Amino acid sequence: MLKEQGLADFVAGRRVIVSGGAGFLGSWLVDALYMLGAEHITIVDNLATGRIDNISHLLGTGRVKLINLPVEKLEPLKGYDFVIHMAARPSPEDYVEHPVETLLASSRGTEVMLETARLSDAVFLLTSTSEVYGDAEVVPTPETYWGKVNPIGPRSCYDEGKRYAEALTVAYARQYGVDVRIARIFNTYGPRLDPGASYARVVPRFIMQALRNEPVTIFGDGKQTRSFCYVSDMTIALLKLLLCGKCKGEVVNLGNDEEVTILELANLIKEIVGSRSEIVFLPPREDDPKRRRPDISKARRLLNWEPTTPLRAGLQKTVEWFRRYAGGGAHVG
Ligand SMILES: NC(=O)c1ccc[n+]([C@@H]2O[C@H](COP(=O)([O-])OP(=O)(O)OC[C@H]3O[C@@H](n4cnc5c(N)ncnc54)[C@H](O)[C@@H]3O)[C@@H](O)[C@H]2O)c1
Repeated sequence: MLKEQGLADFVAGRRVIVSGGAGFLGSWLVDALYMLGAEHITIVDNLATGRIDNISHLLGTGRVKLINLPVEKLEPLKGYDFVIHMAARPSPEDYVEHPVETLLASSRGTEVMLETARLSDAVFLLTSTSEVYGDAEVVPTPETYWGKVNPIGPRSCYDEGKRYAEALTVAYARQYGVDVRIARIFNTYGPRLDPGASYARVVPRFIMQALRNEPVTIFGDGKQTRSFCYVSDMTIALLKLLLCGKCKGEVVNLGNDEEVTILELANLIKEIVGSRSEIVFLPPREDDPKRRRPDISKARRLLNWEPTTPLRAGLQKTVEWFRRYAGGGAHVG
């Protein structure tokens, strides 16, 4: 499927560095870059939320190397064609337990990766987030919306960190002429979502709870909405944004624009799993956005891309992976 998109011509023989490459999205992207023929891929990852299992199949190939270090402690490097900054601690549990590390990955970490891009004369891609819009008042949210963010709330280490990362990225473009691109990623799910974070992110939490026939826990009344994109669709979008000739300096929303309530999501996962779990409502999380749905018209136009995996089909594949690899099958019955 990747080769059909004509992406190999741009990747074959190139040198790439990916911070956060042992994580969920990072490891899918590293797999894709490897399959497309990248000559060398350096992964910078301290395995804070990522897993060595996600990349171990590549480490013996001689083309992929892991630097196990917090990216903010790395000396900027030279000699890359593409620099991709994905290192982050993107789950709500981490915002509470590791707010300082969460901010450092986006502040000093972004600086190190931008310096690497500047020294290498490389294309730079930042994986930002829909969280920069905060509790958006405009839904579907276009890239032109500036956001409604609490700078000192419990999520601020993540969303303000990413807002700073975006500001530093455009500053490097303006001052040093670095070729930058920013992806504002909306909720993405699929195999390799960290099962250990199953009590933080909504899709792995619901799947693990449903597989174990434990109560499926919803924060608030479940009427809040999200839009969920399957990981293979997201991987293609990220590659297209990285490789597109006319995307220098562009900021693009990436995600699926099909909006569902969290209660609908819980019921769909229960149905796919065939679970006996009851649904339990917990107090709402502070500053939890009420609606989240991307306006992806820019991605459609600029990248000639759109998500093609329906939510049910993507969840079926994800549940299958959790049953097989995340110990989720042991308790079903
Ligand atoms: N998955 C989503 O729904 C989603 C949504 C919006 C944005 N994003 C962004 O996409 C990127 C990847 O997210 P993901 O979902 O794969 O999360 P993930 O937690 O699976 O991956 C993040 C990776 O970064 C590593 N990391 C964290 N702090 C680090 C540090 N200081 N130094 C080096 N490595 C560090 C982790 O070990 C992990 O491998 C992140 O930038 C995230 O903000 C993801």
